Amino acid sequence: MPRQSLDDTALDTVFREAHTHYGFKPAPIDEATLRALYDLLKWGPTSMNCQPARYVFVVSDEGKSRLMPALSEGNRDKVHEAPATVIVAVDTRFYEFMPRIFPSSPNARERFAENPDKASDTAWRNGTLQGAYLIVAARMLGLDVGPMSGFDNAMVDEEFFPDGRYKSNFLVNLGVGEPASQRPRGTRLAFEEVAEVV
Ligand SMILES: Cc1cc2nc3c(=O)[nH]c(=O)nc-3n(C[C@H](O)[C@H](O)[C@H](O)COP(=O)(O)O)c2cc1C
Repeated sequence: MPRQSLDDTALDTVFREAHTHYGFKPAPIDEATLRALYDLLKWGPTSMNCQPARYVFVVSDEGKSRLMPALSEGNRDKVHEAPATVIVAVDTRFYEFMPRIFPSSPNARERFAENPDKASDTAWRNGTLQGAYLIVAARMLGLDVGPMSGFDNAMVDEEFFPDGRYKSNFLVNLGVGEPASQRPRGTRLAFEEVAEVV
């Protein structure tokens, strides 16, 4: 038997009533909230505890103006309104931290360094998971989110990560959503269409 489920309020807040937001109220998000967000999402699991995601919290006008040219036109107003836009990136050399974060496998760093395909697969798989943990954690902390992949990754990388080590994955707008900006809920596929129990 599973442990007792969280109550319906929690499930509604994080999943059932949580919509993607496309417009936000102007209230800023302070750094303490951004730190609280990281301090929650960091507990989400990654393979060998590798934690390859990196985060740039873009909150200033200056930061937003650096991001704007890379955005697809339809995403510019959303970023302009959001009090914070997170660039969720991956560290292509995440394995340099392995001796500290996964000491039970003393040669993990070398094994990833010698196998770039495995390192890349691991970085993108786990970095994307950590982006999803960020979305869920933000909702648990009372924030609304608007994830976005409609932008030019190469432009963002050149502007924010010029040494080439980090690569942008996707963006997440954060803030208190403007309810009028929500779109109607899209149909979700049924269990029978996507799952089997064998
Ligand atoms: C990785 C990702 C990328 C997305 N990219 C964009 C985007 O570039 N622009 C946009 O308006 N919406 C974008 N969306 C929003 C999705 O269309 C939306 O989350 C989905 O339709 C579910 O909507 P709902 O949360 O209201 O049910 C993105 C969502 C995700 C998770």
